Amino acid sequence: MAEEFNIVRGTKEEQYKALLPQLRALVGGEPDLVANMANIAAVLKAQFDFFWVGFYLVKGDELILGPFQGPVACTRIGKGRGVCGTAWERTEALIVPNVDTFPGHIACSAQSKSEIVIPVMKHGDVIAVLDVDSEYLNHFDETDAAYLAKVVALLSR
Ligand code: SME
Repeated sequence: MAEEFNIVRGTKEEQYKALLPQLRALVGGEPDLVANMANIAAVLKAQFDFFWVGFYLVKGDELILGPFQGPVACTRIGKGRGVCGTAWERTEALIVPNVDTFPGHIACSAQSKSEIVIPVMKHGDVIAVLDVDSEYLNHFDETDAAYLAKVVALLSR
């Protein structure tokens, strides 16, 4: 249950490692995708205080804003557009250390400086992306990519 979620201290890896079983318990008994995305966004925001963390869901040829925590964001992103649409098109995680150097980056907030996007897969298709923005440059690395991939895998079960 959400109220049993514990904020964890330690290295980034230790935090993700401690978070995963809690997230598994949180979403394990709930089949609804959007409800689980909402709780995952809330937990990631509470644990890491990311500037913006949330999901865009694939609907037709666009990504549509889903559950998130943070400032108001753009609602629709075309396939191949921005970091999110590019991660969708390529079916791969993208780490952007400096959003100003990513061609076509969509700036929902001028405060966002770096970003990571992880595709959410189901039966071989991208059904959504997890997008995390930081107000700091170079905030995300392969540790985030590896553990956030495990986090979004919880949505595909
Ligand atoms: N920066 C993203 C758009 C979404 S917001 O960051 C919440 C992009 O370029 O796809």
